[in-house]
Amino acid sequence: MTGSPRSAKDFFAPLAVGAPAPLREIPARPSRAIHFFDPSNPKMAAKVPDMVGTVDVLLGNLEDAVKADNKEAAREGLVTIARETSFGPTQLWTRINALDSPWVLDDLTTLVPAIGDKLDVVMVPKVQGAEDIHYVDRLLAQLEAKAGLDRPILVHAILETARGVANVEEICGASPRMQGLSLGPADLAADRRMKTTRVGGGHPGYLVRRDPNPDQPDAVRPTYQQDLWHYTIARMVDACAMHGIYPYYGPFGDIADVVACEDQFRNAFLLGCVGTWSLHPKQIAIANKVFSPSVEDITHARRVVAAMGDGTGAVMLDGKMEDDASLKQCLVLVELAEQLAAIDPELKKQYDAIEVPAGE
Ligand code: GLV
Ligand code: MG
Repeated sequence: MTGSPRSAKDFFAPLAVGAPAPLREIPARPSRAIHFFDPSNPKMAAKVPDMVGTVDVLLGNLEDAVKADNKEAAREGLVTIARETSFGPTQLWTRINALDSPWVLDDLTTLVPAIGDKLDVVMVPKVQGAEDIHYVDRLLAQLEAKAGLDRPILVHAILETARGVANVEEICGASPRMQGLSLGPADLAADRRMKTTRVGGGHPGYLVRRDPNPDQPDAVRPTYQQDLWHYTIARMVDACAMHGIYPYYGPFGDIADVVACEDQFRNAFLLGCVGTWSLHPKQIAIANKVFSPSVEDITHARRVVAAMGDGTGAVMLDGKMEDDASLKQCLVLVELAEQLAAIDPELKKQYDAIEVPAGE
């Protein structure tokens, strides 16, 4: 770092005259599945209005997976879809092209004036460090001011370069616009020179093997597949929690393997992630299930909350010790359940039906 950092009290000042004031807190809006669609694909685009209300986030993708020849059509398609669709409780996000690409400037200067009032979050790919966020931050402020927007567009970074991982804490703290981070396992694998060829998920070669049994040295030794992404997700979760923003898994490319997809999503949920990407409608259902606390978890959490009274001390429930710290874990689940119940009537019904015995 060279020079003097900005004063902490200037952090929440708009970066352009007339731009909306930055938010002091990132709203905890449910975002279990971020469903990617290609706005240049008429078949996919036609489905968007019917998906409103069935998924927490719809994301118009302009970056990878959109052919170079279709970049402009995707951008224009997103403008049309955003203008013609009423999104209700569903958030609208976009993934812009990389900051060194020939398309990104037009992405931002087209989208913000045209549909900035509808866009909740801009996802920025291949973020390397705080300087990338600072660039987008200032440009968004200028465009918001020009467009007369009254609320700031938030920024979400994809962690998909080795340098980005090394700088993950400074990326999360680079702007009050920072909403969250997603893992980008495909680009990250390439950038790190990992020897994989998949989009997310495990690899059968990444394993540990049981020691040989001295009495049966030739017996088959069981192996246990390990999670290639554990280290990166754990770093993301800590960096996001430290800055009050939200971590997400990313793409799981093997659409047919719904079982492994669910496992990978659940690992991310248990570690602290709030959602994931969906690349196919069937992954929405998996994400909604995995990233919503189960009825069993909420039943237990509410029992702990009821038994802990003023929240201090310790109690025994089912032979297990509960105290201030386990209460705090339970409150994380209860709060999440409340946020989800507010937008998901089916979940609300399930959570409302839970009965907690009084006076435990
Ligand atoms: C996502 O963009 C990835 O590279 O995995
Ligand atoms: Mg990528």
